[in-house]
Amino acid sequence: MAEDLFISQSGDKAEKYRVLLSQVSSLMEDEEDLIANLGNMAAALKETFGFFWVGFYLVKKGELVLGPFQGPVACTRITMGKGVCGKAWEERKTIVVPDVEKFPGHIACSSRSRSEIVVPVIREGTVAMVLDIDSEELNTFDKTDEHYLGEMVGIINCG
Ligand code: SME
Repeated sequence: MAEDLFISQSGDKAEKYRVLLSQVSSLMEDEEDLIANLGNMAAALKETFGFFWVGFYLVKKGELVLGPFQGPVACTRITMGKGVCGKAWEERKTIVVPDVEKFPGHIACSSRSRSEIVVPVIREGTVAMVLDIDSEELNTFDKTDEHYLGEMVGIINCG
């Protein structure tokens, strides 16, 4: 596997996601370790789009616990229904937050985060983890991000 990530410079956001998906899939197909794969997926997303924070919270003993991530230090545990992550877990659906200050109960791990998307990773009807991405800009995430990040988490082999 190539060590360098190829980032599409010519395409739009959808094209960047398509190029990224194919690279991350081949990165992951030869590796069965979940933590290694989540680490590379977070790194590839951050490198491609320059997001402020990209990471995973894994469901462990009834809580979300911080997993592999790229970005500043973050809160380590989130309970069901709390914050954007806890809500996405509870509702088992992707939540797009255009302005975190307008999301009741948003957990501010950093005051620099302005908008956010959280995508649950559902296996056999159960949320196994969530992918959380924060941006320093307002209104960063839309249906295109929701669609391709849904595909991205679909390739995670939770074991
Ligand atoms: N903002 C999240 C907490 C996690 S950090 O953004 C990394 C939330 O409200 O759930």
